[in-house]
Amino acid sequence: MYPLIDPWSSEDIVDYKKLIESFGMEPFDPMGLTDMPPVMRRGYVVGQRGFRYIRDAILKHERFAMLTGLMPSGKMHFGHKMVIDQVIYYQRMEGDIFIAVADIEAYATRDMNLRTAREIAVEEYVKGYIALGLNPNKCEIYFQSERNEVKDLAWILGRNTNLTTLRAIYGFEDSTNLAHVISPLIQVGDILHVQLEKYGGPRPTIVPVGLDQDPHIRFTRDVAMAARLYSVQETKNGLGVFLKGHWSKSCAKDLLKKAEKKLLDVGYADIDIDIPYRALYIYSGDDPYRVMQHLADIETDMGTYGFLPPSATYHRFMRGLMGGKMSSSKPESAIFLSDDINEAKSKIMRAYTGGRTTAQEQRRYGGVPEKCNVFEMMLVHLVLDDNELDEIYNSCRDGTMLCGQCKKIAAQHLETFLSEFQERKASIDVKDVEACVTRVYSFK
Ligand code: TRP
Ligand code: SF4
Repeated sequence: MYPLIDPWSSEDIVDYKKLIESFGMEPFDPMGLTDMPPVMRRGYVVGQRGFRYIRDAILKHERFAMLTGLMPSGKMHFGHKMVIDQVIYYQRMEGDIFIAVADIEAYATRDMNLRTAREIAVEEYVKGYIALGLNPNKCEIYFQSERNEVKDLAWILGRNTNLTTLRAIYGFEDSTNLAHVISPLIQVGDILHVQLEKYGGPRPTIVPVGLDQDPHIRFTRDVAMAARLYSVQETKNGLGVFLKGHWSKSCAKDLLKKAEKKLLDVGYADIDIDIPYRALYIYSGDDPYRVMQHLADIETDMGTYGFLPPSATYHRFMRGLMGGKMSSSKPESAIFLSDDINEAKSKIMRAYTGGRTTAQEQRRYGGVPEKCNVFEMMLVHLVLDDNELDEIYNSCRDGTMLCGQCKKIAAQHLETFLSEFQERKASIDVKDVEACVTRVYSFK
């Protein structure tokens, strides 16, 4: 089963490399894609599952979807911006963009009422996304509580899992409230509903999230595959496609023949069918995902879903300015996008750095930008120019720049960023935001 991490706890996760390995993720790299935001190109997105399918879709201009979700609790800070920067990137890469406002999850796990969640989401988050550069006319932002397909899938796909599994993944207890128990299935509904016909059909789907969300991702991948008609697996000599469920001989034959025809059409060779065993073997096949992709249409024609397991990328968490985790419940740990500019600048001036105890020591040994919260802010958010960042890094390391001066540079960037952001946000009409969260965008 899964190693137990609790997506609802606030514990800091530190050893990213080890974590990625032990979870069986792959490390993230841009795989030849360009034009990524700092969070992606400067190593803040650390892990991934199945990112190559998204990379391929982008390079070949094929359709893909992106979905992520945010709980509308508290105020928007730079940790949230990290996700939205990625969303905007995928929007530029012409993905079909979906953002879930996780109001049911906030209700179930954070004691937040649905009306307040809606108000916070519209005023603080969705407005903020648009002010950060998200094009509201080319994306779909919705509330879990208002989307029946999401809730229906939670209900229907619930048949493919059970309480023992949920307990093993999330550590639920006898006293856990049932809305909380169901909330992972709601998230499954979020992620998979974008592959329903109405929302664009089966296609590669990327879910950019924080590392703490991996239990949800793996759970979703398992449930997606369990809901398929054909199970595609690696075998000793290639790939095996196995029919799930109980089929009469003639139905089985028909389904396997259909699969064979489709696979031959798209260029696979060397296919054998074994009807009594309800199996099809592809000796030339190498990637189960590609085969699942080709067979998806047959499944949707049959009235089943044909979901592809979602891909995901995982970003690490920004450290709090005063150490610990950046969190909306600790105002001094984070800079909020709505902070008064002078207040925000003074948070930078007070932040923990990787500097030495005395100026003299720092001149001699240099600072440690890797451990510095101010450097982290510049790396992920504030300094977009790579040369400028290099220069800051080097003059910190070689002791030519001291923290006071460096913090002033950071504070200056912060001021420019926040004043532009706040001005844009103030100019957004709430009616446009309402229009965006109520209409259903057509990605056809
Ligand atoms: N569980 C996520 C959080 O705690 C929010 C969320 C809900 C989500 N649905 C999602 C994230 C779908 C990614 C995909 O922040
Ligand atoms: Fe951080 Fe800048 Fe000080 Fe280096 S000089 S430790 S980057 S604040």
